[in-house]
Amino acid sequence: MEIPAHYRGREQALIKHQLLETYLYKLFMIVGQHQPTISYVDCFAGPWQVASDDMSDTSIGRSLSTMKNCLESLRDMGHNVRFRALFIEKDVTAYHRLRGYLDSLDTPVETESFHGEFYNVRHKILDWCGPAGFTFFFVDPLGWKGIVEVPTLEPFLQRPNSEFLINFMFEFILRAHDIRKHEKDMIAIFGQVPQTDDMTPDQKESYLVNLYRANLKRVQPLRGGKPRSVTVPIQRPGKNRTLYHLVYLTRHPLGIVKFMEASEPLDFVQKAVRIQAKHDKKIETTGQCELFGALENVKIEQGNVPISVVKEYWLRQLTSQPQLFGIDKLADMLEETGWFESNFQEAFHELQREGKAKNLDDAEKSKRRKKFVHFDANRNCGERLAKVIR
Ligand SMILES: C[S@@+](CC[C@H](N)C(=O)[O-])C[C@H]1O[C@@H](n2cnc3c(N)ncnc32)[C@H](O)[C@@H]1O
Repeated sequence: MEIPAHYRGREQALIKHQLLETYLYKLFMIVGQHQPTISYVDCFAGPWQVASDDMSDTSIGRSLSTMKNCLESLRDMGHNVRFRALFIEKDVTAYHRLRGYLDSLDTPVETESFHGEFYNVRHKILDWCGPAGFTFFFVDPLGWKGIVEVPTLEPFLQRPNSEFLINFMFEFILRAHDIRKHEKDMIAIFGQVPQTDDMTPDQKESYLVNLYRANLKRVQPLRGGKPRSVTVPIQRPGKNRTLYHLVYLTRHPLGIVKFMEASEPLDFVQKAVRIQAKHDKKIETTGQCELFGALENVKIEQGNVPISVVKEYWLRQLTSQPQLFGIDKLADMLEETGWFESNFQEAFHELQREGKAKNLDDAEKSKRRKKFVHFDANRNCGERLAKVIR
């Protein structure tokens, strides 16, 4: 895969847009089968750093084309779903460009835009959403102040039937989190002043992100399902360092499963971006163009979490008494570890082959190729798994 020209130099936006598009498609196709109206709110719309004429490299263009595709596919399946989209932008030039684009569009999606500061128009946004219809909020700012703090987002977090994708500007927050003058802001973000002395960079990252996720969930209402969240780290192009985290928040276990499914190929793209950047640098310094494309090399680099670690995790979950492993349990496992379903499938298969675990509902007795546990079987209640004690 070559990185599209429009995204060169801002590959992190490509990864963000791919995730947004892939996940929105899966989400709307599920939600659209039982909800008459779907609303989408892009709270920091842009356009920003746009290189295409048709907005195909912006969240505006990509979300609208996804909604149109879903609306048409759902209609073919006999579901007439009303799609509504709201875009907020504070910069006057960007706002006029946004408005002009929306006015020029011929789309079955109902569109609206507000010009203003997100903080000031929060209640207007909520009025537009209405009290109960399904709404997806995309929060993609340039900074954090007056935006990602939990009290700022609280009126949205308390809304029922809502999902969120929040760009948590990790690089900025990491720099600010232990500076005394930001203490109040940190309490608003994390619910406490984070203590990260003596932590390694990796420990700091997971501690801070987990603290933020927990604080977001804390203010969600008790009714409406258990609050759940996962996060996808997006790296600075060409560097092995996190630029931001895309924090996803839902009340549905299936949302977690589908979101992680949408994220998995991005891991591959991030590695491709890293290799492409190294490759570009080499051309710059040596003047030599290498013959391979970015992705050919990725296959060699693949493999995140060691399978032995996932197997150990499985053995801690399994008991000698068979237990059902369904979507709910899978969502718990994905949330807790941040791994992908494929990691769990592969590790379970290996435990089965080693005679350390069994699937009592695997009628094909491991003729399966990729999915060794059908978490979605039996109406998402799953299959009976057990540890083999010898
Ligand atoms: C990261 S860009 C958005 C990119 C867009 N979501 C995309 O993926 O194509 C953030 C946008 O939010 C706007 N913005 C920044 N602060 C804002 C605020 N407080 N309220 C509303 N818009 C804001 C900026 O002008 C910029 O266009």
